[in-house]
Amino acid sequence: MQITGSHVLVTGGQRGLGAAFTRALLDAGAERVYVTARTPRPSDDPRVVPLALDVTDQASVDAVAQAASDVDIVINNAGITGPHDVLGTPVVEMQKVFDTNVFGAIRIAQAFAPVLAAKESPTLVDIHSVLSWVGGAGAYGASKAALWSFSNSLRVQLADRGVSVLGVHLGLADTDMTARLDAPKVSPADVAAAVVRGIEEDAHEVLVDEVSASVKQALSGPVEHLVVQL
Ligand SMILES: NC(=O)c1ccc[n+]([C@@H]2O[C@H](COP(=O)([O-])OP(=O)(O)OC[C@H]3O[C@@H](n4cnc5c(N)ncnc54)[C@H](OP(=O)(O)O)[C@@H]3O)[C@@H](O)[C@H]2O)c1
Repeated sequence: MQITGSHVLVTGGQRGLGAAFTRALLDAGAERVYVTARTPRPSDDPRVVPLALDVTDQASVDAVAQAASDVDIVINNAGITGPHDVLGTPVVEMQKVFDTNVFGAIRIAQAFAPVLAAKESPTLVDIHSVLSWVGGAGAYGASKAALWSFSNSLRVQLADRGVSVLGVHLGLADTDMTARLDAPKVSPADVAAAVVRGIEEDAHEVLVDEVSASVKQALSGPVEHLVVQL
């Protein structure tokens, strides 16, 4: 699809990967980018429209769908990390991770499906993780695996309406989410460049880094090798 002249929604678009997506989309020629935050800050760029959004709140999602009813691209980026311990974490804590990372993204997909379906060449982008595919990341990994599966179902359902669905997998990127982890990280700008390329090429999946590509290859191997130490 053509990013030039497009209108885009980036959930969580004011910091971390979301801010990098916003910059890269504007550099690629997007005309307007709606960026959300739970407490949005004003922008001095007239192409950037900040909106308040909490993806766990249906009324908030509906209000954003009303305000951004002209978008060609939606990037489901908002997400939180979560506890890795499955046996010792209260289920209610894991439900909070799912409510943001899984059902938050689904609320956005449901609210924006009619908006996107009315456009000529629309795309929904879901941000997964390499942790969708490996054990060791508890509720966070499980939430990304669930979102991956939902994206695969959305791709089938939205194809009838002409909407492309792009799933994005990556290892660690250098944002607030990973600040406590001392490990190699890709830059948010590199993640954003890969996603912009994927949108332009109508890709169904982007494997941003070497770790995502090699873990995807390993899915056909022994399941006990699909492990991460965090
Ligand atoms: N960083 C990595 O290594 C990495 C790797 C793989 C996948 N990812 C995924 O990439 C996405 C962005 O991650 P990041 O690293 O940029 O994280 P981050 O720096 O922690 O930023 C998280 C973003 O999500 C938004 N958000 C969180 N809860 C929300 C809610 N209930 N409603 C609306 N927005 C909410 C935040 O908005 P506020 O401004 O309102 O807080 C913020 O913009 C996430 O889905 C994450 O799981 C990240």
